[in-house]
Amino acid sequence: MTSTPTPAGAPPIDVTDVSVVLGTSLILSGIDLTVGEGESVALLGANGSGKSTLVKTILGLHPVSSGTVRLFGRDVADRRTVPWDRVGYVPQRVGASSGVPATALEVVRSGLLSPSRPFADRGRAARQRALAALDAVGLADRAQDHVQVFSGGQSQRVLIARALVRSPDLLLLDEPLAGIDRASRESLAVTLAGLRDQGLTLLTVLHEMGELTDVVERAVVLAEGRVVFDGPKSRLAHDHARHDELGHDRPDNCEHAHEHGSTEPAAHHAPVLTTSVQQAGGAQ
Ligand SMILES: Nc1ncnc2c1ncn2[C@@H]1O[C@H](COP(=O)(O)OP(=O)(O)O)[C@@H](O)[C@H]1O
Ligand SMILES: [Mg+2]
Repeated sequence: MTSTPTPAGAPPIDVTDVSVVLGTSLILSGIDLTVGEGESVALLGANGSGKSTLVKTILGLHPVSSGTVRLFGRDVADRRTVPWDRVGYVPQRVGASSGVPATALEVVRSGLLSPSRPFADRGRAARQRALAALDAVGLADRAQDHVQVFSGGQSQRVLIARALVRSPDLLLLDEPLAGIDRASRESLAVTLAGLRDQGLTLLTVLHEMGELTDVVERAVVLAEGRVVFDGPKSRLAHDHARHDELGHDRPDNCEHAHEHGSTEPAAHHAPVLTTSVQQAGGAQ
């Protein structure tokens, strides 16, 4: 499903020296992050460290103050050149689902819509694709049920199906484990492992790796808008162990205070950004 020819061999995500200012605050600073085809990367860090901002910047939803973001070799600042069909996005869930009554099938079909294809969710082919996406997350038998009655974990899987319906090559997920019960987290881990095994490139924002430890190969840790760790997850675990041996408190958010490369002051704000994240769900 590639509508735009992209430079051969270009990595799915290529972030070069990116800084982002929101309001008057420097939220991301000097971020370098390349994610190659088929990689599964966890983006970790404390609340407010800039994870969601980075994901949205990767999707071109926040303008960069400096640096460049490329998806499949295309600069996201030039939105029309980006092959959005290849990119799926599961935004951070905010509270309960909206009051609009919709079945799981309708929610997933809506993932086919785009400004250039206003009727793409209609017809038999769209229905088949949506059912296949629901099947991929283990909810084919719930297609006609209203999402309002779904548990947090089931709702999360519907959102993943919505992101999968266009058969993306790259999937970005923002805190998919947050607020769902353990059984749902485990079944999500199975779903994501299956997608990774099919060759999908995954960038998953996590508060901690938890049930997704086996799905992730590489960890990137943000603190105060900077990358403070980027390496194999095994090294992250090792560094944590050393941190404990040294008698430091182990931050539960995997922040590596001892690796800070900068004394840049943290940007402190009241939490903002809630509904706009969901509205951006189609990454269009
Ligand atoms: N639109 C915005 N305007 C101003 N500040 C923002 C905006 N969005 C996020 N921030 C601030 O940026 C910082 C990082 O937020 P966020 O990326 O949501 O962190 P995380 O996802 O790691 O919890 C926080 O201090 C947050 O308050
Ligand atoms: Mg966030």
